[in-house]
Amino acid sequence: MERTFIMLKPDAVQRGLVGQIIARFESKGCKLVGMKLVKVDRNLAEEHYAEHKGKSFFEPTVNYIMSSPVVATVWEGKNVIAIARELMGSTNPASANPGTIRGAYGMDISRNIIHGSDSVASADREIALYFRPVEILEYDKAGEEWLSE
Ligand code: TYD
Ligand code: MG
Repeated sequence: MERTFIMLKPDAVQRGLVGQIIARFESKGCKLVGMKLVKVDRNLAEEHYAEHKGKSFFEPTVNYIMSSPVVATVWEGKNVIAIARELMGSTNPASANPGTIRGAYGMDISRNIIHGSDSVASADREIALYFRPVEILEYDKAGEEWLSE
């Protein structure tokens, strides 16, 4: 089963949006297999955004995710990486579809609420950055048979 790393960024926590955002993933049918509140340090923030090193938005984005606690989560499901990216909406909340998380809750690309892995390789890398293997839980979830054949 595919897994993805989803981070609720500092603005989501500060603005009290954690419950509403988690609820969207739950109601969609994604299975929560890891979750914790984390204060990201510089090392972790720079690792997280390593692919963007050298770009103009690298420093501000690193500083943003270090600025206050984030909620780190791991979700499991069929095609969950692409499904989560659909739920999140496009990178800039100003133009994201209002039915998406970024489109519903954000105003500006510098405070875009949420991060989600964009591929299996980045999901594996990001999950390992934030979680030890024992922190990802395997369990049977009620109702799984009602989500797909
Ligand atoms: P990116 O990986 O392109 O977006 P996504 O989060 O949708 O995968 O960029 C990482 C983060 O960097 C993005 O969430 C917000 C920030 N960013 C900017 O501040 N300005 C920009 O022009 C871009 C492309 C990203
Ligand atoms: Mg990205």
